[in-house]
Amino acid sequence: MDRKCALITGAARGIGLATAKILSDRGWAVAMVDRDAPALADAAQVVPDAHSFACDVSDPVAVAQLLRDLTDQFGQLDALVNNAGIADFGPISETDFDRWRRVMATNLDGVFLMSQAALPALKKSRGAIVNIASISGLRASTLRVAYGTSKAAVIHLTKQQAAELGEHGIRANCVCPGPVRTKLAMAVHTQDIIDAYHDAIPLNRYGTEDEVAAAIAFLCSAEASYITGQILAADGGFEATGVGLPALRK
Ligand SMILES: NC(=O)c1ccc[n+]([C@@H]2O[C@H](COP(=O)([O-])OP(=O)(O)OC[C@H]3O[C@@H](n4cnc5c(N)ncnc54)[C@H](O)[C@@H]3O)[C@@H](O)[C@H]2O)c1
Repeated sequence: MDRKCALITGAARGIGLATAKILSDRGWAVAMVDRDAPALADAAQVVPDAHSFACDVSDPVAVAQLLRDLTDQFGQLDALVNNAGIADFGPISETDFDRWRRVMATNLDGVFLMSQAALPALKKSRGAIVNIASISGLRASTLRVAYGTSKAAVIHLTKQQAAELGEHGIRANCVCPGPVRTKLAMAVHTQDIIDAYHDAIPLNRYGTEDEVAAAIAFLCSAEASYITGQILAADGGFEATGVGLPALRK
């Protein structure tokens, strides 16, 4: 294939779909992956020339088959965007092992499995991995014992990948989005939470899918050819605020 090929997980909506669109606009061949097959089929209609693959990234057998199918259809893989994620918030005392495992299965195991299965193809292309974590992996908060821990682990997994895969020319970086009004966020953000984020974020607003997708696309691109092992917060400055006491902001 003369075009570069990107595989994006969780591409049926939200940040993943925005990433598929921006990479397609920039001339990449795009493989869209999601476990929600009907939503994925609809989403693939709006991305020119996209190929779609229904797959649960937490299922090792399905992931191995996905990479075989992808290699058959595209013959190469230049960028892997591990974006599929779920948010399930609750107090520690109410996070039973099933809930913990459900979050870890997609948010952490999925990133590990996809990256491992994609390795042979990425070694050939000297390609890029971009993992999507969260500001919840950078700063602890209430109700995020599973989600925040899974995302902190993704941040460290990214550094492990960068350390070990650099000798193969593979770059691994991580984007930590701040709040974006997607289905995932709106399921767990009340109006009070939305207002509090606006107040605490230096840019005083939520981000958009396109703003996060632009950071992801940059890290996939040749413009980031000497950047690996980095954690980029696309968060309106939230992570930088340190002592974020409301009384100190006036
Ligand atoms: N929206 C935010 O405010 C926000 C903030 C920080 C981080 N993030 C992260 O960004 C990423 C994308 O989030 P979003 O807000 O676009 O979410 P979203 O819910 O809109 O989209 C996530 C997609 O992932 C898919 N998915 C979930 N589990 C899967 C699995 N096991 N296998 C395959 N597909 C699966 C879903 O079907 C869905 O289409 C996630 O990793 C999320 O944790 C989002």
